[in-house]
Amino acid sequence: MATLKATSVLRGAKAVKVLLGVLLAALAFGFLLNLTIHELTKSLKAPTPSRLPASSYKERSLRLESEATANKNSDSTGSREQPKRGRTEIEESVSPTKDEDKAKPSNLRRQLPKCLIVGFTNCWTLTLSGLLSLHPDIVTAEREMRYFTLNYQRGNEWYRSMMPLSAPSQITVERTPNYITSNTALDRIYEFNSSMKIIALVRDPILRLMSTYVLHTRRKPDRPIFEHWCGVHVKTRNVLRYIDYATALQNVMARFRKTNVLVLSKEDLETKPYTVLRAMETFLGLKPAFSKDDFVYNKEEGATCFRTTISRYPEVKRALVPELDNRTGCLGSSLTRRSHPNINQEFLEKLLSLVKIHNGRLFDLINKKFDWTNLDDL
Ligand SMILES: *[C@@H]1O[C@H](CO)[C@@H](O)[C@H](O)[C@H]1NC(C)=O
Ligand SMILES: *[C@@H]1O[C@H](CO)[C@@H](O)[C@H](O)[C@H]1NC(C)=O
Repeated sequence: MATLKATSVLRGAKAVKVLLGVLLAALAFGFLLNLTIHELTKSLKAPTPSRLPASSYKERSLRLESEATANKNSDSTGSREQPKRGRTEIEESVSPTKDEDKAKPSNLRRQLPKCLIVGFTNCWTLTLSGLLSLHPDIVTAEREMRYFTLNYQRGNEWYRSMMPLSAPSQITVERTPNYITSNTALDRIYEFNSSMKIIALVRDPILRLMSTYVLHTRRKPDRPIFEHWCGVHVKTRNVLRYIDYATALQNVMARFRKTNVLVLSKEDLETKPYTVLRAMETFLGLKPAFSKDDFVYNKEEGATCFRTTISRYPEVKRALVPELDNRTGCLGSSLTRRSHPNINQEFLEKLLSLVKIHNGRLFDLINKKFDWTNLDDL
């Protein structure tokens, strides 16, 4: 095209066309470059967790919770909630996964995802992906591909090449917990497959805020207190980013059919894994992978837990590391579930009234309520 046009460049009208084309291309390139640099800078800014001295019971229990998250962030598969080195992190090579054992080798191939876990960060998306991976009709990508955010220019065939092998009847699921907060990513997902099944995980916003605070500040020697990290006024971006799920979900609902969007809670995943698994199976049109008898109610933990005597328990343990307590078969533990840092009462009340507004928006949007923090619990 370019050389064809170059031959007639002396002709006035055509010269203008060529110029316009070049200008548009330059603009588009500049935009893409800008976007990439922006996302790269954002990922470079992402914090890395470190140790926190255990000085009080409350801090200790909070540390347990954040360590669980930190372990998850640095597990051997390279999956992290927060990107650290941007695009170079994803290698070209694909390592064989346990999912590949699920079907006969003859008809295995790599398939593009038909379901995405899109968010939210620090809401146990890795554990949800692990639970889903226990289903025989599901294969899950071992790492966050960040395809619709950072790696989009690599193209669909790159994305496919990064997926695990699967049988034709199996569904591939990918998880990147910050797709949901990027409108660009949501647009790209819609363009990729407008019928994509979208799963989002939310959790008690105040507990998410506190857990994120620990994760983001534990390495800092001059560690700010919770209230200062939030900002003097409750309505700072640092707070809203972690307590407002409704805005991001509205952006999802504006694009995708409601029947293709499933919103689950970390608390339900933790205390009712069987119910959550069934909800995902129904959502994806799959047969039940476990029976109710594979689970047992644990009074002490106040949770439904895997029966440790079932034959698939070793597989369960592998899939749900590190959140599974391998002794009890429960996800998380009562200690982390009840932990809170000290928060100034006045600040907390302001926070709670703000959270209430955003929870209301969320519950209206998804037509479902979660039993989250009230003042008496803290
Ligand atoms: C798009 O996603 C839906 C829902 O998972 C799936 O049934 C369909 O096959 C997908 N389309 C393509 C072209 O992959
Ligand atoms: C259970 O987990 C602990 C660490 O939490 C580990 O040391 C131990 O080997 C595990 N036990 C089994 C049977 O996997």
